[in-house]
Amino acid sequence: MHILHVVGARPNFMKAAPVLRALAAHSGVRQTLVHTGQHYDAAMSEVFFQQLGMPQPDHNLGVGSASHAQQVAGVMLAFEPVLLENKPDVVLVYGDVNSTVAAALVCSKLSVPVGHVEAGLRSRDRSMPEEINRLLTDQLSDLLFTPSADGDENLLREGIAAKKIHLVGNVMIDTLVRLLPHAKDHFPAGVPSPYALVTLHRPSNVDDLPWLRELLAVLAELSEQLNVVFPVHPRTRQRLDALGSTQSRARLCLLEPLPYLEFLALQQHAAMVITDSGGIQEETTFLGVPCLTVRENTERPITLTMGTNQLVGRDLQRLRAAAADILGRGSLLENTRLTHNHSVPLWDGHAAERIAQVIVQCPVGSTRG
Ligand code: UD1
Repeated sequence: MHILHVVGARPNFMKAAPVLRALAAHSGVRQTLVHTGQHYDAAMSEVFFQQLGMPQPDHNLGVGSASHAQQVAGVMLAFEPVLLENKPDVVLVYGDVNSTVAAALVCSKLSVPVGHVEAGLRSRDRSMPEEINRLLTDQLSDLLFTPSADGDENLLREGIAAKKIHLVGNVMIDTLVRLLPHAKDHFPAGVPSPYALVTLHRPSNVDDLPWLRELLAVLAELSEQLNVVFPVHPRTRQRLDALGSTQSRARLCLLEPLPYLEFLALQQHAAMVITDSGGIQEETTFLGVPCLTVRENTERPITLTMGTNQLVGRDLQRLRAAAADILGRGSLLENTRLTHNHSVPLWDGHAAERIAQVIVQCPVGSTRG
């Protein structure tokens, strides 16, 4: 059986790595890895391949950055000949980035079965490019691997046949479970505890410059109480350039994007995480670290109901109050962490093995219809 994986952007890599490993353990499985090149900086791509122990891609489509239409079209044009040449039995796509929907669309036009890893997540906010990518990818997929039961419910409500849906758990947590023991050797030098860890890259937060300026002011306020460490995504770096705010100041420390293990070490020991990322909401839930999500909604509601995540929306007062509340809890934090660990069903480090089982047991072609 020949499985072709398509990855393109940073959050795809930690999801594909465990699936590649789990499938490699099955005899008779051949795998091909395609990198679309949506993310191309060494710090956004190559270092993740190294730390995650992923094989070098067999094909790099070199698509790079562009408008959404150009990026999606670029992946489609470059991927079609690769798909025709390789003739895989199944293509696996990951998450919700532009590369995901583009590859799924090419497969569906050529009648190649598609498996979507991390299916069924919904924010119900169609102004997010990722929500459109999720909706379309799920409609185009033949095998839908969900991380939590809310994903199954969303898919069934959208008319997807139950036989295509497989509740397998969270592959990103597989990578976390495998690599957490190694993270302690990668704690970045010169970060004094206690600290808050910040990531922001959503267009809704960083492309709105007056809002970004206000957010930075709140982070500067917070840094009067504890260190604030902010590894800056390239998109955010450009916006900070436009604001003239690229310099670290006092205890607000702006860093380059960090490799996986360095970031994981920082997450594990943070007093709190402030983010607009999807995956970080899940990782902090697993680690039991308080997370404040600077968004009005989340496609990962299980991190609110069973985890440590809180939505603070576009409301700076809520952000201030929630951060103060976490700081006020102080010494309780470490205990809270222990009780949260492993709290979400199937977030246990074995999701990719369950995906591999489904794929190898699935007679080729039977996924359609
Ligand atoms: C993409 C995903 C988003 C994901 C994020 C993680 C989509 C629609 N968005 O957003 O869901 O959370 O990745 O990082 O697919 N850039 C570089 N070097 C790189 C990559 C990007 O400098 O290696 C800069 C470019 O100027 C580019 C900008 O970052 O224009 C944005 O990159 P892009 O891939 O368009 O989207 P992200 O914001 O990274």
